[in-house]
Amino acid sequence: MIRCMQPDLVAQIKAGEVVERPASVVKELLENSLDAGARRIRVEVQAGGTQLIRVVDDGEGIAPEQLELAFAEHTSSKLHTVEGLESIGTLGFRGEALHAIASVSRVEAVSTSRESAAAARLVIDHGLRDELAPAPAAGGTRISVHDLFARVPARRKHLRSNRSEAMAIHQVVAQYAIGHPAVAISLESDGRPSFASPGTGQLADAFAAVFGSDVAGRMLPVHAEGDVGVDGIITPPDISRSNRSGMMVFVNGRPVKSPALTFAIEDAYSGQLMAGRHPLAAVAVTLPTADVDANVHPAKLEVRFTNDRKIFAVVRSAVATPIQSKASVPVAAVSQHPWQADPVDSRSQEPRRSYPDQVRFPVDRPSAATPSMADALPALRVFGQSAQTFIVAEGPAGLYMIDQHAAHERVIFDELTGTEARPPEQGLLEPVQLELSDRQMDALEAHGQEIAGLSFMVEPLGGNWCVVRSVPMVRNRTVEAEAVLEVLDALEVGASAEEVLRQAIEIVACKAAVKAGQVLTMTEMRELVSQLERTAHPRTCPHGRPTTIHISLEKLEREFGRR
Ligand SMILES: Nc1ncnc2c1ncn2[C@@H]1O[C@H](COP(=O)(O)OP(=O)(O)OP(=O)(O)O)[C@@H](O)[C@H]1O
Ligand SMILES: [Mg+2]
Repeated sequence: MIRCMQPDLVAQIKAGEVVERPASVVKELLENSLDAGARRIRVEVQAGGTQLIRVVDDGEGIAPEQLELAFAEHTSSKLHTVEGLESIGTLGFRGEALHAIASVSRVEAVSTSRESAAAARLVIDHGLRDELAPAPAAGGTRISVHDLFARVPARRKHLRSNRSEAMAIHQVVAQYAIGHPAVAISLESDGRPSFASPGTGQLADAFAAVFGSDVAGRMLPVHAEGDVGVDGIITPPDISRSNRSGMMVFVNGRPVKSPALTFAIEDAYSGQLMAGRHPLAAVAVTLPTADVDANVHPAKLEVRFTNDRKIFAVVRSAVATPIQSKASVPVAAVSQHPWQADPVDSRSQEPRRSYPDQVRFPVDRPSAATPSMADALPALRVFGQSAQTFIVAEGPAGLYMIDQHAAHERVIFDELTGTEARPPEQGLLEPVQLELSDRQMDALEAHGQEIAGLSFMVEPLGGNWCVVRSVPMVRNRTVEAEAVLEVLDALEVGASAEEVLRQAIEIVACKAAVKAGQVLTMTEMRELVSQLERTAHPRTCPHGRPTTIHISLEKLEREFGRR
């Protein structure tokens, strides 16, 4: 029998589209605060947003007599006509977010508009008005969402752990903070401050607040003007990640998922990124509102462009500019570093353990930009070790220096990714107890299977403690139990099982590989080089750094004045 659905059921179904998880509520509330012209926004969450999500802003506010209307279905101050839909200039426009949120939680809203002296306080409990009363005016708006999904078991069931939900919230707030650098946005989770952007208007400052000033300080600015404007910061090709979680794209201040724009950004590196590596980037595109359709996704996560080819081309070229100018700076010009000043000197009395970082060899570094980079290594004749770190070898086209650690990492990485069998498991006589951070706990919860697949046996002990009972044995060496921590740090929660495994193997390969500063016998070095020659990508380690530096014969002849 066909019957009309009950109104509260309809409301919950519709709310499902907008409010999928606590992070979606945070997103909607942040958008409202930004649309209200706030200069300062404070986000506070408890228990991954399931107990409390509170967003406080100093925006233009809602007049007391309008407060209840804001929570009614299809009400908005932003969009009233079909023509308006043609050029949406605000983040919100659907007039449904507050209604949807209030139908799946208990919401308390306190707001004052700039014009009115008084404020009102409204409580809506799962769609039903509980209270509407005057309140002392404080300026701006404060919305508190309690017990989200408490009465929606279907939704609750699909929530991840509080930690995972808190991480998703962190990502959302971070995105808006970076996308709106002129607004000071802060996040506090379970009473602990996560980050606070300063609101200086500089994208780099907001980025630094979220990712730390170390990374932010090394990033390259992106800027292009025109009817399609581009602003942003990106990492140089030598800083990359194995996932795309550090890539953010904004269109008119709206963070969007756009595989095409993400591709345009990566494409701008024109091969300088290793396969499987991705930059960190925050790129904001500004264009006339009429040229972009924001109304294509229920949660407003995607947009459609009138002229996407043009936009991708502009973004690509804007991003390529700083990368190219960076690339044109010679890494080591011959004239600046004459060969004789090079500290690699076989006649020096004492073998040196390490060389200062700034010492650069006057050689052609294999450039990842050239496709021949992926080419196989020629057969090499090993004749020595330098600084207990580099294997020195000769090939048909000159001299080769091989970084023993990077080479070994490549060999082990290929071995572990190439086989179905997991590495043998070595039980620990004394199991190692480790305390994990919240993020690490989360990663363990999400990817325990992949970690076990690499022969780490890790059991939770309660709280944030766990015990490692066995570790993988790689090439007759056991990997230390503490490597689990690094593996967990590297995993991106939500990545595909394949990607997770790759990230974990990268760490295990690094841990199991010989270190710099380790003396190797000729036999060991020959063996390592011949194994490296057999790998699919012998010239780079799994992180994308070179394993091998080639000094061509021509170069040697030139240096010695024979040419
Ligand atoms: N923090 C706030 N400050 C000032 N006004 C607000 C705030 N939050 C909501 N409002 C008002 O309440 C209205 C309804 O908000 P709601 O989020 O439900 O819809 P919307 O933002 O117009 O569209 P969307 O559903 O796409 O978010 C808004 O149009 C706005 O006028
Ligand atoms: Mg809104």
